[in-house]
Amino acid sequence: MSLQGKVAIVTGGNSGIGMSIVLELAKQGANVVIDFVSHPEATDSLVKQIAALGEQAVGVDANVSKVDDLRMLIAKAVEKFGRLDIMVNNAGVETRTSILDTTEAQYDKVLEINLKSAFFGTQLAAQQMIKQGDGGRIINVTSVHEDWPMPGNTPYCLSKGGMRMLTRTAGVELAPHNILVVGVGPGAVATPINLTTMNDPALLKKLDSAIPLGRMAQPTEIASVVTFLAGPGASYVTATTIFADGGIMQGSPGL
Ligand code: BGC
Repeated sequence: MSLQGKVAIVTGGNSGIGMSIVLELAKQGANVVIDFVSHPEATDSLVKQIAALGEQAVGVDANVSKVDDLRMLIAKAVEKFGRLDIMVNNAGVETRTSILDTTEAQYDKVLEINLKSAFFGTQLAAQQMIKQGDGGRIINVTSVHEDWPMPGNTPYCLSKGGMRMLTRTAGVELAPHNILVVGVGPGAVATPINLTTMNDPALLKKLDSAIPLGRMAQPTEIASVVTFLAGPGASYVTATTIFADGGIMQGSPGL
């Protein structure tokens, strides 16, 4: 197990891609702190699944768009497991609104949950890792839309574009501390964020046909990339994004 004895935090960890990341990290031997804001029963069931794997997990109800909550989240990891090795800034939402109709409240919500949380999550995790003195990994779950426009989802694209530069800049700044900062850019994944598309056969067909691999990803196909990046095999990867998108960003109708 490549992550034996490591301690990880996963924000937005009790559903979607986050839930899968929590399970994959635990399977590799990590103890995991599961951040969540709703559905405590889903967190409880994850904690039980992880106990059955012989690892330990704890759920923490923290709103990562608030810096005080993030501080508390990291303090809980240190209190419970003694240290922090892997910070996964995964929590994310989207409004599917365009430049023309996004409200101030929608803009603030998306930017705070997606980008502000990743910025301060990176800052606070790095401060703890520097105190420990032996490096660490910070993994930002972004999207193909960190670099690829999604018309009708403008605030989301902005937030992911910000995470792209956060990853690059923090990766450079924190390199002297051997803290590696990497982005994981999923394409379309079968999670609650994509339910509208998945429940509309015509829309799903349109999406699948835009993906060279011809299908959406399963959450485990993203979690496995995150787990690799958290482990010893990724010791030279920093300040960049690894895309797991079925080729969607390179898709072409051949015209
Ligand atoms: C978005 C989805 C979108 C997918 C592929 C994801 O980051 O959350 O709404 O379908 O990218 O474009």
